[in-house]
Amino acid sequence: MASSNIIFPMILALSSLIAGISKGQSTVPVVPGLSYSFYESSCPDLEFIIRGHLWGVLNNDITQAAGLLRLHFHDCFVQGCDASVLLDGSASGPSEQDAPPNLTLRAQAFKIIDDLQALVQSTCGPIVSCADIVALAARESVFLPNGPFYNIPLGRRDSLDFASRQDTLANLPPPTFNTTDLLNAFANKNLNVTDLVALSGGHTIGRANCASFTNRLYPKQDPTMDQTFANNLMLTCPTNTTDNSTNLDILSPNIFDNKYYVDLVNHQGLLTSDQDLFTDSRTRDIVTTFANDQNLFFQKFIDGMLKMGQLSVLTGTQGEIRTNCSVRNGDTLNLGSMVQVNQQKQMLSR
Ligand code: HEM
Ligand SMILES: *[C@@H]1O[C@H](CO)[C@@H](O)[C@H](O)[C@H]1NC(C)=O
Ligand SMILES: *[C@@H]1O[C@H](CO)[C@@H](O)[C@H](O)[C@H]1NC(C)=O
Ligand SMILES: *[C@@H]1O[C@H](CO)[C@@H](O)[C@H](O)[C@H]1NC(C)=O
Ligand SMILES: *[C@@H]1O[C@H](CO)[C@@H](O)[C@H](O)[C@H]1NC(C)=O
Ligand SMILES: *[C@@H]1O[C@H](CO)[C@@H](O)[C@H](O)[C@H]1NC(C)=O
Ligand SMILES: *[C@@H]1O[C@H](CO)[C@@H](O)[C@H](O)[C@H]1NC(C)=O
Repeated sequence: MASSNIIFPMILALSSLIAGISKGQSTVPVVPGLSYSFYESSCPDLEFIIRGHLWGVLNNDITQAAGLLRLHFHDCFVQGCDASVLLDGSASGPSEQDAPPNLTLRAQAFKIIDDLQALVQSTCGPIVSCADIVALAARESVFLPNGPFYNIPLGRRDSLDFASRQDTLANLPPPTFNTTDLLNAFANKNLNVTDLVALSGGHTIGRANCASFTNRLYPKQDPTMDQTFANNLMLTCPTNTTDNSTNLDILSPNIFDNKYYVDLVNHQGLLTSDQDLFTDSRTRDIVTTFANDQNLFFQKFIDGMLKMGQLSVLTGTQGEIRTNCSVRNGDTLNLGSMVQVNQQKQMLSR
């Protein structure tokens, strides 16, 4: 505890320095209703609280960063960045029993978001949305494992409805997609070829289950795969039904860097959707460029995250600010009315 009192202000100073330097670097427009200073007066310590808590969590187990980053991606791609992914009953949310195995989000990521929300709520009251907390947690999950720091616009609100299994499957690209399929899936979200390659770089951290890539091993090995890499994967997943997992980035699995692209150039990308970005002539040069220039990757990744992080957001009086990220306010013990009073207070104080 004593050391954290010294370290946190240092990090804050460092990151505001970096934020200051990178300010104005991204040309991605801010969606109406969101703003970089949304909680500046209503919850000035918001980012500090989130970074402080995640610093502790990730210092203890850096592999949790991947779960938090992926949670934001799944939230944004299905129905917009509205925390629908967190609701009980959502096809990828906490208590969904029949979520498809290929949508495996980490249970721990949901727990971390709940903890963050409780902390924020105890300091600022129920005024910060779960969707903003997910977005901020993803941002820290890039920065803390050595990735770039960037400011994100805030002011997202939480959905009243969850995503069905059908919506979830229709909107999240499966790992068996080739580049044509991926370009289409991303174009549906107004994300272009550079965004696709840059955002796929999220796979520089984290793990995948055998089920996500055994299509490349059995019944026949994917010819684009490096043989030693394939042999090792067959040890990890001896059959097409083995329950096991491995790192997405074989070179530096817990560091947010450009090694994912080096893997692809080396034919050591894990998923079809990863390796095909190097096979396909429309994306190959972008992969090679990122493999050679980490700063450019970081810059394009930030642009992609800012675009993805603002997909179909709810703003203003749309949706609500959940007091419990897993349930709609109306479905809790009438906590909803308390939130409305607080929201009115906040509006008045602006
Ligand atoms: C391009 C389309 C994408 C596909 C097809 C895809 C697919 C997958 C799959 C199949 C897994 C492994 C799941 C498992 O087996 O448990 C995974 C993991 C992951 N994905 Fe993606 N993904 C895509 C884009 C993204 C984006 C845009 C991000 C974030 C910027 C992201 C971040 C992650 C992370 C961090 C993990 C590791 C999660 C963990 O360790 O818990 N992915 N992805
Ligand atoms: C997930 O796997 C199921 C079979 O378990 C399959 O029907 C579905 O298309 C897959 N979806 C995604 C998004 O990977
Ligand atoms: C990509 O996959 C689709 C099926 O999802 C297939 O129709 C198409 O031919 C594939 N494209 C390439 C270039 O392999
Ligand atoms: C794609 O979007 C990025 C911003 O995310 C922009 O810099 C780039 O010019 C766009 N077009 C192409 C073809 O990459
Ligand atoms: C899981 O993977 C590890 C590492 O490759 C391997 O040693 C182990 O045998 C695998 N487990 C199963 C059940 O195949
Ligand atoms: C595993 O392989 C067997 C035999 O090739 C096949 O019948 C089965 O559908 C495969 N299972 C999965 C989950 O891919
Ligand atoms: C939030 O809701 C979930 C699901 O209904 C419940 O299990 C959990 O205890 C609630 N959390 C708090 C802090 O009330």
